Parts: sequence; C-alpha cells; structure tokens
Amino acid sequence: MSNQDFVILPGPSSISFARSMAKQMGCDIADLEFKEFPDGENYFRIVSDVKGKRVLLVQTLSPPVDHHLVQLLLLAKKLSETGAFVYAICPYLGYARQHREYLSGEVVSLKVVGQLMASMGVKRLVTVDIHNVEGLGLFTFPAFSVSAIPFLADYTLSKEDLSEAVIVSPDFGSSARVETFAKLVNRPYCVFEKERNRVTGEVKIKPPPLKLKGATAYIVDDMISTGGTIVKAANVLNEYEVKEVIAICVHPVLTINSVEKMSKAGVSKLIASNTIETEYSKVDVSKAVVDHLKLLG
Ligand code: R5P
Repeated sequence: MSNQDFVILPGPSSISFARSMAKQMGCDIADLEFKEFPDGENYFRIVSDVKGKRVLLVQTLSPPVDHHLVQLLLLAKKLSETGAFVYAICPYLGYARQHREYLSGEVVSLKVVGQLMASMGVKRLVTVDIHNVEGLGLFTFPAFSVSAIPFLADYTLSKEDLSEAVIVSPDFGSSARVETFAKLVNRPYCVFEKERNRVTGEVKIKPPPLKLKGATAYIVDDMISTGGTIVKAANVLNEYEVKEVIAICVHPVLTINSVEKMSKAGVSKLIASNTIETEYSKVDVSKAVVDHLKLLG
C-alpha cells in the first residue's frame, strides 16, 4: 500500500495535525463542508468521492470532548456508508483515563467510546501516548498507540541547556515514558510516588531520596489537565530548592486556570506536543502517526 491510497479528512479539532500528516504522506485532503449551528449542532457534507478509499479521519478528542467525539462519529458514519475504510486518528484520546472500573458501578467510558466508534464503521484507531495501554484492549477493532516521547526529547535536546537537568516523573504511571525520555536526553531521572484518592480526587506525592538542589527539573507527563499533578510535583521540587521547574507533556488538555496555577507554583515554561493545538504545542508529533501508518503499509 502506498501513501497515495490514503485520503485525509481533517476533523474540526485537528486541522493542522491533519495537514501536517498530508504534507508528509503526499496524499490528498478530502473536501469537507462544515458549519456549527447557533445551538451547537454540527452540519457536515463530505464533498470528495471517498468510495473504496482508506480515509484517515483526524480528530483529536480534546475538550469539549463530547462535542469532538460526536463530530468524529457523524463523519465516520458517513464515510463508512459511502464505502470508505475508516481509520480514526485521535491524537489525544479523550476518556482514556476511565479504561477500567476502579470503583464498583463506574462506567468504563473508554469501552463505550470504542463501541460507538465501531458501530459508526471505524475499522482502525491510532492515537498518541494513550493514558494506559490496557485501554487498547477495549476496542473490538485494531487500536494502536504511538509515542510522542522521542519527538519531545529531540525538541528539548535542541532547545534547552540540559547540563543541570533532572527528569522527573510525577507518578508511577508515567515512569516508563519518563525513563525513555531521560535515556534519550541522557540525564538522570526520578519517580515521585503519587496517591490519588479516587473518591475525593486528592493527590499526595512523596519524593524519593535524590539530590535535587540546584537542578533544573523537567517534569514529564502524558497529559496536563487541571495542572494539579504538576503543581504538587513542583511544590515538592521547590522544597528541595531546585533552580527551575519546567513542565513537558504530550497532551496539553489545560483546563480551568491550569496554566496560571502552574505558573504560581513556579513552573517557568511548558513544552507540549500538538496532539491538542494550543499556544504551547511547539512539538509536531504527527510523524509518529505517519511512521506507524507506513509500517502497516
Ligand atoms: C495521571 O495519571 C496522568 O498521568 C496525569 O498525571 C494526570 O491526568 C494529569 O491531570 P491533572 O493535570 O488534572 O493533575
């Protein structure tokens, strides 16, 4: 299969990411008419002929998550009805944090998302740094997660002075990613132990015994949502008298005052990928998806 066999359909939430993929792959971008009605409903018309084509429907599931999910489902349904083979490319996969029933009675939201996609005709899913790879097992069709970490590491190596750098994982969940990042930038790393009370949501961090005084600490996480995890880690790092705290994440979800909260906690800079398009999304990681698609070829 060559790249010419793919057509890219940029969903409203991932226009730049989709264009970057199309440029690298040298494939066509499908023509789409889209408008949002004053009441928030979506209107779509797929103008290009996509019958028999492999269509990469690129739509990140960032906030407003449900709105973006419905947009993806509407488009997937029309594409599949038209006879296209639909790949959902979700650079950020909303609902991935609820991949399990932690407390009895909880909805396994990611499983429902997978079922909705399947019933609208999605045949493949590619995402970037899914919160937990266990989540991929909930899909009834092949689902893949590619990593943005090498791209974030390359960017950091090229832009930052890492001579005094320590890489920090704010919890065990991110430790594998952080270990990879630390190896790529060739700096030491440590893992903070985090405990989240799943009822109240309260998070506590215990620092490991490691000399941090005077270091530039780079906290690396898969996502920053409220900023609470980064703030707690930054507070611990400041108690240890680090020189500077910088936050790096794959998915800058960045809800309610998260940037201000991190800034108040002494975080001097935020480096993020473009799985969600924000002013901090300096690192284009669409190549991770493109490389994966080439491997499938
Ligand atoms: C948690 O397990 C994740 O890796 C992130 O640390 C967390 O989701 C970040 O969320 P927040 O910014 O709301 O603390």
